[in-house]
Amino acid sequence: MSRHIAELVNAIPGVEEMSLLELGTREGLNFERFACKRKDSVDIRYDPTFRMTTDAFFEQNDGRLTYDIVFIDADHHAAQVMKDFNNAITIAKRAVFIHDLFPNRAGYATENGSQAGDGYRLMPEFFLQPMFPFVLNTDHGLTMILPPFFPLLGYHKDLTYVEMVEWWGTRKRYSVEEMKEVIKRRKW
Ligand SMILES: C[S@@+](CC[C@H](N)C(=O)[O-])C[C@H]1O[C@@H](n2cnc3c(N)ncnc32)[C@H](O)[C@@H]1O
Repeated sequence: MSRHIAELVNAIPGVEEMSLLELGTREGLNFERFACKRKDSVDIRYDPTFRMTTDAFFEQNDGRLTYDIVFIDADHHAAQVMKDFNNAITIAKRAVFIHDLFPNRAGYATENGSQAGDGYRLMPEFFLQPMFPFVLNTDHGLTMILPPFFPLLGYHKDLTYVEMVEWWGTRKRYSVEEMKEVIKRRKW
């Protein structure tokens, strides 16, 4: 569960007039905190708006419902996160947030999709997005991606967590307060 997603989303000026889709909602602890006017959730369990896989949601939605913000936090295998992102950008208008792209420690990154999964293997690809990813230095690298969005074409299947951290080097990660400043100053 993300510790800071609701705080960041609710820092967006005019969020009360926006719509949000959360992919992977669990009990809805964050979902219920979002201040958006229209909210939908997708999960294979619990009590979401759409009780189905994210793949099934995008297939049946076929681009009809669009959202200002999409938050991706469902199946954490890199291949599925990539698929969710590529589907999300067909219906997201203002921002896509993704949880667990930069786990706080190696043990939290897993091959089998539990905990943070291996979504970190997408990180170099996200740097090809025109607006670059804004990544938190906490909360397992909760990431904000802004339009224009481009589909991801693949991910680094053999990249280890340690190699990703080395590759990251001195690239900036944002504190929660810095990220909120970026959000507040942006023209939405
Ligand atoms: C980490 S939890 C989500 C936590 C929630 N976003 C929060 O911040 O409180 C991941 C959720 O994704 C759901 N999930 C896993 N694979 C999924 C899939 N393929 N489609 C939809 N939901 C999925 C799980 O049932 C679980 O509830």
